[in-house]
Amino acid sequence: MPIIERASIRKVLDSRGNATVEVDLFAPIRVRVAAPSGASTGAHEAQAFPKGGADEAVRLFTKDLGPALKGRDVADQEGLDRWLREVDGTPNFSRIGGNLAAAISLANARAAAAAAGRPLYRFLGGRSAGKMPFPFGNVIGGGRHAVGGTTVQEYLVVSQGPTVAGNVFANARVHHRLKEVLSRKFPGEPLGRGDEGAWVAKLGDEEALALLADACKTVEKDLGFPVRPAMDLAASEFYRDGKYRYKDRALAPGEQIEFLVRLAKDYGVYAYEDPLDEEDFDGFAALTKAIGKKVVLIGDDIYCTNVERLRRGIASGSGNAILIKPNQIGTLTETRATVETARKAGWATVVSHRSGETTDDTIAHLAVAFGSLGIKTGTVGGERTAKLNELIRIEEELHEGM
Ligand code: PGA
Ligand code: ZN
Repeated sequence: MPIIERASIRKVLDSRGNATVEVDLFAPIRVRVAAPSGASTGAHEAQAFPKGGADEAVRLFTKDLGPALKGRDVADQEGLDRWLREVDGTPNFSRIGGNLAAAISLANARAAAAAAGRPLYRFLGGRSAGKMPFPFGNVIGGGRHAVGGTTVQEYLVVSQGPTVAGNVFANARVHHRLKEVLSRKFPGEPLGRGDEGAWVAKLGDEEALALLADACKTVEKDLGFPVRPAMDLAASEFYRDGKYRYKDRALAPGEQIEFLVRLAKDYGVYAYEDPLDEEDFDGFAALTKAIGKKVVLIGDDIYCTNVERLRRGIASGSGNAILIKPNQIGTLTETRATVETARKAGWATVVSHRSGETTDDTIAHLAVAFGSLGIKTGTVGGERTAKLNELIRIEEELHEGM
């Protein structure tokens, strides 16, 4: 396979107005990958940037990493990823930053796919790439992604019709429907949108779920396939001094589990992400025992795409699915190892955007390549639709047998 002839980097804007890095590789075809950034980051994830931020990442790349990439064979993804670990030399990529590592690692995969003349999902997924993920779309928001919204970070819709295109539009329909419902509920009041394009309104947490479940039912009836509510609680963000602190209640861990079991039953919740604190493996296991056969229980902050933490969670039965964010761990090789470990254990994977995104569409390809159950990448907004529209294109290609 060809070698990297030239590598360059620039600081670009993310959707929250913060700086991130974008890497170009020429091998000799030019490819480009930009890294996203989170707001509700897990304690065990890679540090996004070195001290000094995106500017320092650019400086490190320009001085050391970029020149050293020259001459590397793009076929050697594992060697590159090992080298990124060595150059960094810390367990959490704190010297070069997980965002720089992920941008380089994924750009190399894109370069190798381009050299092979294949789309990335096909190059990484081989013949098995074919199953399309369900889009998980954020429609009501709060937590760290919004000011004045719910305590729970994300209320999501998961449409489960026969095509990804149909599901993308069904999710958008729920987003539209909620706009009508919320405007009617709060006449004359401004209705805002959070970091991921979800509606932000003065709602209680159960009230928001009730509205969402209703909107899902209406759209489900219109379209004739399952349209289900889900939640990413990002519970570590409101777990303080032994209690989950909602606006209207404070729940001890056991009460939180009972609360979630009841909500799942009352509203037909399809999936919970981070329903409990990121260190509570036992709580995750108890919840899984209670509702794991019916509800997808996804670990994000608890696992941080980290294979060691996932192994621990599999051993203790703490969940049945894992969120996959490449820049939480830093390299494609490690991301794949985590996905493979999940698959072997019978756990589902959901590939995810970050709340601060760019129009980069790499994760759409990863979700298809990994045969993931889902992809969480919003419902509307340019940086979200970049991925959703790419999924629609991929589905079309698969249909045409390309
Ligand atoms: P982020 O979190 O703000 O760290 O991207 C999104 C999520 O919790 O899934
Ligand atoms: Zn999350």
